[in-house]
Amino acid sequence: MSGKVLVTGGTGYIGSHTVVELQKSGFETIIIDNLSNSDIRVVDLITRISGKRPAFEMADLCDIEAVKRIFDTYGDIEGVIHFAAFKAVGESVEQPFRYYQNNLTGLINLMQCMLEQSKANMVFSSSCTVYGQPDQLPVTEKATVKKAESPYGNTKQISEEIIGDTAGKSHMRAISLRYFNPIGAHESGLLGELPTGVPDNLVPYITQTAIGKRAKLTVFGNDYNTPDGTCIRDYIHVSDLAAAHVVALQRLLEGENEKKHEIFNLGTGKGYSVLEAIRAFEKASGVVFNWEFSGRRPGDVEKVWADTTLANLKLGWKAQKGLEEMMSTAWQWEKNMDAGILGNENNKPDM
Ligand code: UD1
Repeated sequence: MSGKVLVTGGTGYIGSHTVVELQKSGFETIIIDNLSNSDIRVVDLITRISGKRPAFEMADLCDIEAVKRIFDTYGDIEGVIHFAAFKAVGESVEQPFRYYQNNLTGLINLMQCMLEQSKANMVFSSSCTVYGQPDQLPVTEKATVKKAESPYGNTKQISEEIIGDTAGKSHMRAISLRYFNPIGAHESGLLGELPTGVPDNLVPYITQTAIGKRAKLTVFGNDYNTPDGTCIRDYIHVSDLAAAHVVALQRLLEGENEKKHEIFNLGTGKGYSVLEAIRAFEKASGVVFNWEFSGRRPGDVEKVWADTTLANLKLGWKAQKGLEEMMSTAWQWEKNMDAGILGNENNKPDM
């Protein structure tokens, strides 16, 4: 395939891996990012992997004039993959308005610009958080969307509704992808997750503890109704996830979508407990690190994993990489950051 694809949040964790996959498939990529939670040097790292430099526009989606200018500058954009959003669950509880303002204004501005073009094809970054604790596992796309546990989760639910309603009454075609738990890093060791400050998510916390940046990992809760008492999640390699975005976009560009707004789960279909994740990391890295149990983290669901049948059948996509490969790539990335791949400020301890 060819043509221009706009990737909002393209210097972020999932966005950067998706830019590489788009380039591999022949697309010309334009990144829009305000660098609020990412690093400009990611553009160089993408270029090192693919040999192709993506166009980069530093802009905030909340600034509609800036977004309009970008659409005018590049013209003829085949599709948009929209990642740019705030994503810290706890922070969203503390600062709800900031989350609603950023995530929803950004989406609406972007959609306004898209609707002014002849082609309006959008792949949206959604989350399994919309299911809350599902009544049945594995969870299918038909499961009830539960009341969101956090403003962050609510922005994903509202965004899906805005996209669905708008696509239904315009020339927009859209696919929302509900991610389970993306982890791991690019096989080259040049791209990965770059948490600022203390990580919220499990795997960056594990790798930072294993490398000595954190004293110990806290495992939140050992009294859940699961075989070992810890929560179960469906971890998926970020490169598998990135590849799914490209096939979703291709589906829209080829007009193969069966509805104006389609929704797919992206997971592996397998659930692993926190303790299983720790063991997989230790096996993959050969490093044993400190951890201890504490109480449950408010808002955590007990167990969730995906039914991926729909994505397998309709997108012709299936996650390929297993948990140990996810962990070994995450570990390689942590070691590369520690060795200064992004410069020295990233390996200073900030406990
Ligand atoms: C959360 C959100 C998800 C969001 C993702 C990215 C929910 C239900 N899920 O996923 O929508 O896309 O963050 O920010 O809101 N854990 C520990 N110790 C830690 C960190 C995590 O034990 O230091 C445990 C958690 O309790 C959980 C598992 O590890 O059982 C995974 O946690 P995490 O990586 O934070 O992801 P989620 O909470 O599943």
